[in-house]
Amino acid sequence: MLKLVFPNGETDMPSLKIAPSLLSCDFANIESEIKRVEAAGADLLHVDVMDGHFVPNLTIGPPVVAFMKKHATKPLDCHLMMTEPHKYIDAFADAGADYITIHVESEAPLGETLAAIKARGVKSGLVINPGTDLEPAKPFLKDIDMLLVMSVWPGFGGQKFIPEVLEKIREARAIAPDLDIEIDGGMNAETVKLAREAGANVIVAGSFVFKEADLAEPIAKLRA
Ligand code: DX5
Ligand code: ZN
Repeated sequence: MLKLVFPNGETDMPSLKIAPSLLSCDFANIESEIKRVEAAGADLLHVDVMDGHFVPNLTIGPPVVAFMKKHATKPLDCHLMMTEPHKYIDAFADAGADYITIHVESEAPLGETLAAIKARGVKSGLVINPGTDLEPAKPFLKDIDMLLVMSVWPGFGGQKFIPEVLEKIREARAIAPDLDIEIDGGMNAETVKLAREAGANVIVAGSFVFKEADLAEPIAKLRA
């Protein structure tokens, strides 16, 4: 793909956004954690919803998203790791989700569910697991607001980055130069370089951000 680089060093890619994953924050202090990470420079707040079925872990549902929404000024990027996300679109939209992304590996009728997300005025996206190729997402790349490429197997924070997924990012970027392409899992100061070079512009990071006392430091490193 032809990438323009302007004299100020910017490229013609969609702008870089850092999306800390609240999965690694202190849930007992969600209000102050949201304020702290927003003050540290978060562009989006990544919210990991796990149903204990699509992935072997359970996290949060719409009521907690609604609490987050009361305190957030940045958009809530809700990543639904659910077998049946299509049954919960209204619930997450009502809770205040700004983005809803659904897995291509889920049982959702993709086209219909993306349309239902959009009909609620919410930004829509598809997610692909490390073992899934880009193919099932391709028909939708022109219509969705975001493609999320998982760079770990979903279910837990703090896992090791899988570099083989970078090729799918390159492929998607070549097809959709203006699309927000998000990467999720194992992002740190080193792996973010590979992700951005491949064409990702939305960077999710959980443990790398929240393990530090000063959240601005890791966020600045991801942006550097
Ligand atoms: C994994 C989640 C991720 C997770 C990333 O299932 O989708 O968003 O929080 O955590 P790190 O950045 O620690 O790999
Ligand atoms: Zn996630």
